[in-house]
Amino acid sequence: MFWLVMPIGSVGKVSLVVVETLGINPTDTRVGGIKLGVNYQYVLNTKGSTPAEVLGIDYKATLKPALDEFMDNIKKSSKAKLEELISLQQQSVENASKIESKRNRLAALQSRIDEGEAQLNLLKKEIEDYTSRCAVEAKRMLEDVQREEHNLDLVEKESEEFLKTSKLKLHDVIKQCDEETQMCARELLMLIDTVSKHKEYMESTISQMKNELLETTGAVADAHKASLKLQFGSIFN
Ligand SMILES: *[C@@H]1O[C@H](CO)[C@@H](O)[C@H](O)[C@H]1NC(C)=O
Repeated sequence: MFWLVMPIGSVGKVSLVVVETLGINPTDTRVGGIKLGVNYQYVLNTKGSTPAEVLGIDYKATLKPALDEFMDNIKKSSKAKLEELISLQQQSVENASKIESKRNRLAALQSRIDEGEAQLNLLKKEIEDYTSRCAVEAKRMLEDVQREEHNLDLVEKESEEFLKTSKLKLHDVIKQCDEETQMCARELLMLIDTVSKHKEYMESTISQMKNELLETTGAVADAHKASLKLQFGSIFN
């Protein structure tokens, strides 16, 4: 910010044109002076009638260098501003190219995302197909299992029936065997009885024959003795 000083030719009048934003009343006499540049203050003589009187006798020596310095500052700041502008423009170009490359990258990413989505959709469809095939297969297997189960049920029933009849047959056979065994036992007992009776009979017969043999033997001996007595009685007597 800066103030611009503009002396006017008429007697005892000084007009100050102030940059609007400062908000200072230019005719305020209490200001008592004006600010030049950043750190220079110049005191005005408000009672003077010529520019030289208003600005003071030594304005050339004091105000001129200040104005020169002020102009220098303006030049310097303009140069700085221009340099800043150039750098900003350069930055802007760089930013634009960055933005462009980002946009390209974004487009590439978008196309990759699209590709991925397409693949995903394909995969989804494959999975759905596979799932439905699996469901069909599972249904078929379930039916097979049920049929097999039914067959097994039939076989089980037949087996139970067979087992039942086999048990009945076995029972009959055992019963028959028992009866036959008992019959055999009875026959055996009868046979034993017969044999023992026969043995008794044989024993009695044998003892009878023994007695008869003894009797016969005795008789034969007696007869023999008697005949001998008759034959050789004279010798023994
Ligand atoms: C360039 O971009 C940076 C951020 O990346 C930003 O701070 C700067 O203000 C931008 N410059 C211009 C001139 O747009």
